[in-house]
Amino acid sequence: MPDDLTSRAAPLTSSRPKAPLSGSIRVPGDKSISHRSLMLGALAVGRTEITGLLEGEDVLCTAAAMRALGAGVERQQDGRWIVDGVGIGGLAEPADIIDGGNSATAARLLLGILATHPITCFITGDASLRSRPMARVTEPLSRFGARFVTREGGLLPLAVTGAANPVPIEYALPVPSAQVKSAVLLAGLNTPGETTVIEKEVTRDHTERMLGHFGATVRVEPIEGGRRITVVGQPELKAAPIAVPADISSAAFALVAGLIVPGSEVTVEAVGLNPSRTGLLACLKEMGADIVYLDERVEGGEPVADLRVRAGALTGADIPPDRAPTMIDEYPVLAVAAACAKGRTRMRGLAELRVKESDRLTGTVTGLAACGVKVSIEGDDLIVEGDGTPPSGGGLIQTRLDHRMAMAFLVMGLAAKSPVVIDDARPIATSFPGFVPLMNRLGAGLPEIG
Ligand code: S3P
Repeated sequence: MPDDLTSRAAPLTSSRPKAPLSGSIRVPGDKSISHRSLMLGALAVGRTEITGLLEGEDVLCTAAAMRALGAGVERQQDGRWIVDGVGIGGLAEPADIIDGGNSATAARLLLGILATHPITCFITGDASLRSRPMARVTEPLSRFGARFVTREGGLLPLAVTGAANPVPIEYALPVPSAQVKSAVLLAGLNTPGETTVIEKEVTRDHTERMLGHFGATVRVEPIEGGRRITVVGQPELKAAPIAVPADISSAAFALVAGLIVPGSEVTVEAVGLNPSRTGLLACLKEMGADIVYLDERVEGGEPVADLRVRAGALTGADIPPDRAPTMIDEYPVLAVAAACAKGRTRMRGLAELRVKESDRLTGTVTGLAACGVKVSIEGDDLIVEGDGTPPSGGGLIQTRLDHRMAMAFLVMGLAAKSPVVIDDARPIATSFPGFVPLMNRLGAGLPEIG
């Protein structure tokens, strides 16, 4: 796993393919659902069987963490994962530091679970994760009675000692974050009484859905613009099978590539279409994209469909801020689509992009500018101007341990006039192992990651 920005970096160049992209692929399992499957499986009583788990480095960190905390977590030869849970309250103190790698979902959700287990754990992560804000979870989790010792500024590495006698809380999210919401709800599991989270904007709701699937009582009440979510504490979670749908956040790269490489027709199969995740599709449709939902169905409790895109002219659009939580990871690749569109695209309300795996607001602007695109930031808005012709490209992109920046700019290179080089392709493995060979099945012609 890469830990710094320079040693053994694996640069990668993408350039226009000789022929349009075509074909059908299935991208790996949803990252959010994969983390939660392992965590809830570990907290359940009995054996949980998971199919389609994302075997990216982020999720493998969660698997190792749950094992270190005493759960049985094993991959079968046929690719299924088996989790033998210890039951809520049954986690054991790990003998060593838990490493969340590049994954804030792993670190923050784990902190939620640990906050109400009376054990002490030490958590760290890679250089990116060690720079990301943890106070957004340690602050509400302290209210349950958990104690934290962090680096200056609330950063990892940190130590957590969970509350022996936790008290339930009601918490209004100060930022629209599914990770913070989930951390609080997970802490509520081993807490007597009811724990409530209020969100002003709807964020991805996999935790709520999956808690219900494992037998917890969760009430979700709509409030103006958002939701009030309550979990009843100390349930017995019962092991339950999970089928992980394909990750829309990974599908996004193949879909945008199919839209901006002239003449292309691409299908991505069985994409999870949870309504709290589909903002990118709404934006692309507003920009005039040809996207068809084929064979809409429900798999493993989540709506899925095969998505077929055909390349064509895109136009700029005004993207409202309340859409951000439903597509928070998709802005870099949407900005690439906007650079190929005709007119101005304004993406509003992107403050949260500054605290992702890298500062994606600055990184997107710098990367697009290096590829000859007219781009600016006004407040928390990102503005991209295209003229409907391919961007010049030719930029060298700093990926800064950020998988999505790496993939977004490789997609850019497929449509730009000159090749685009990313300085390091290794972070792609955190969320999308097999990205290069899968894109190459569509005809992308990317070199293998060295
Ligand atoms: C995630 C929530 C989002 C997203 C991340 C996964 C989750 O983060 O960016 O990739 O699984 O809950 P925030 O909650 O910080 O917005």
